[in-house]
Amino acid sequence: MGGRLVKAEPKEHAHEALAERSIDLSVDLGRGLMLENPILVASGTFGFGVEYGEVVDIQRLGAIFSKGTTLRPRIGNVTPRVTETPGGMLNSIGLQNPGVDAVIERYAAQWARWRVPVIVNVAGESVADYVEVVSRLDGVPGVAGIELNISCPNVGKGGLQFAIDADAAASVTAAVRRATDLPLLVKLSPNVADVRPIAQAIADAGADALTAVNTLSGIAIAPSRQRPLLGNVYGGVSGPAIKPIALRIVYEVAQVVHVPVIAIGGVTELGDVLDFLAAGAVAVQAGTAIFADPALPVRLVDELEAECRARGLDSYRSLIGTALPTRAGPPSARGAEYRP
Ligand SMILES: Cc1cc2nc3c(=O)[nH]c(=O)nc-3n(C[C@H](O)[C@H](O)[C@H](O)COP(=O)(O)O)c2cc1C
Repeated sequence: MGGRLVKAEPKEHAHEALAERSIDLSVDLGRGLMLENPILVASGTFGFGVEYGEVVDIQRLGAIFSKGTTLRPRIGNVTPRVTETPGGMLNSIGLQNPGVDAVIERYAAQWARWRVPVIVNVAGESVADYVEVVSRLDGVPGVAGIELNISCPNVGKGGLQFAIDADAAASVTAAVRRATDLPLLVKLSPNVADVRPIAQAIADAGADALTAVNTLSGIAIAPSRQRPLLGNVYGGVSGPAIKPIALRIVYEVAQVVHVPVIAIGGVTELGDVLDFLAAGAVAVQAGTAIFADPALPVRLVDELEAECRARGLDSYRSLIGTALPTRAGPPSARGAEYRP
């Protein structure tokens, strides 16, 4: 008998071939916005990206979400503006930023040279504010998309936040949608009883994707116990303490909208990323954890890739939505989900 025509590959080589196979981590957020991977950095926790260029290889991130940008420069709220809380922090920075024109002038040319897309986070106090900021960003090379921070007081509605009212959220989304062809993401607030009608209204108004969630409203008390600690009284709670709430909201929203959902809230390790994917998110932003560990987001890209390889997956996509029920649950207005 002749020898075998094809020699069996030695075990080590077979293993090497598997190790070298590239894993598809790409994310399609619609309207031409393709990300290389689903690990992103959250608005307000990564500056305008340029600040971290020396510290980490920012080009390896899926996308950078800029600091909140407004029409005019803002000096932010009075101090103190930040305090630690169990499992997180409370901040009331108050959207300190140099204004949209300065943001474009200082950063856009640099962003245009980067491989990593930069999504500009936009804030305003009226629909006209949002539309004006977005119109100025529209067509600027280096601006890959817009994320609307609608957790801002709506001057026209007596200071009520856009994000807590389905009609207000839909009108600002629709107005911005008419003003730009850029990919449009809208950021949901967790400070509502039922986020689903709001998410649906925003998606119906033309958002390409939703991001969830912004910070939770909270306060701290000054050591004297004579007044609240923050100069602004109210601040936003972020960090690991809010992860279960963010997970619940992603889980609820992913079941009622057909646009991609990006998760944010308390990510500190790969397990958090996998949890949010399982709850239906297509991508995840790291936020507060970056202050303590700026290398975290890039490490998460490597760890997600290694996780896929270890599970024998070609793509991370089969990790998305694995924990979702096959049918949407009843609306929370009926109080069906939460029975203490
Ligand atoms: C200091 C600080 C500044 C922030 N600034 C913004 C902002 O300008 N616009 C925005 O949409 N979200 C802002 N956020 C909210 C974060 O993007 C994120 O939604 C929130 O912190 C929850 O994620 P985390 O728990 O991973 O931090 C800020 C958060 C922090 C801690």
